[in-house]
Amino acid sequence: MLDARLQAVADFITADCHADIGSDHANLPHALLTSGRVKKIIVVEKTSGPVRNSQRRLSGLNADVRLGDGFCPIKPSEVDSASLCGMGGDLIVRILREFPDRLPKRLVLQPNTNWGGVRTWAFKSAFRVIGERLIVGRMHYPVINLERATNTFNTESSDPAYERMPLEPAIEFGPRIMRSALGDPASPLHSFLQTQLERLESIPVRDDSSQRYLDLVHSALNWLTNAIE
Ligand SMILES: C[S@@+](CC[C@H](N)C(=O)[O-])C[C@H]1O[C@@H](n2cnc3c(N)ncnc32)[C@H](O)[C@@H]1O
Repeated sequence: MLDARLQAVADFITADCHADIGSDHANLPHALLTSGRVKKIIVVEKTSGPVRNSQRRLSGLNADVRLGDGFCPIKPSEVDSASLCGMGGDLIVRILREFPDRLPKRLVLQPNTNWGGVRTWAFKSAFRVIGERLIVGRMHYPVINLERATNTFNTESSDPAYERMPLEPAIEFGPRIMRSALGDPASPLHSFLQTQLERLESIPVRDDSSQRYLDLVHSALNWLTNAIE
């Protein structure tokens, strides 16, 4: 059984052929194949240990496990969708930038850090946020479901998910996560923002980046308190 984080990722995926980049234990590909949500999986792992783990876990299933870096071993148009989960946001963006012509139309991303960097990449690359959840586990984990708005690559286009809300906090905390937290003080986003507020306000002298993050937290909380949908 998947944990809540990977289950939220799986809930966004249905495809004939899906790629999971950085599968490690291959729990997600295993669940996607055995539940019938995807017909075929291509797993990409950059080191041989996780390749062997994935081969063992997916033995007998319609899975192709490849050794390589990000989208390098995937051909253009080979997959309908792809997931990159449990990695830092900077690594996810690095992998996405490397082969823009190999990216499928649908992506599910679950960055552990630099959430804003991942959404900035999507916003500037014409990938729209069509679904989003904030999952509470050992940490808070955003799960971002993206769809490319056009058939051109690396073209900035507007994303309706960001309409009628302040762009900077929405890029950081998620436009759909923020909208679904409206009027719900028990939401995971409220508890996350409250924890961040207490942590940042207790720092006696904040550097520029902590101050900027605190400003984003205030701005998100302010919108959640005052917005009328
Ligand atoms: C922390 S694990 C996450 C496993 C799983 N996706 C999850 O969310 O539970 C990250 C995996 O990504 C793999 N990885 C890191 N960089 C990669 C790259 N450039 N290409 C393919 N796999 C990569 C690592 O080898 C590792 O197995």
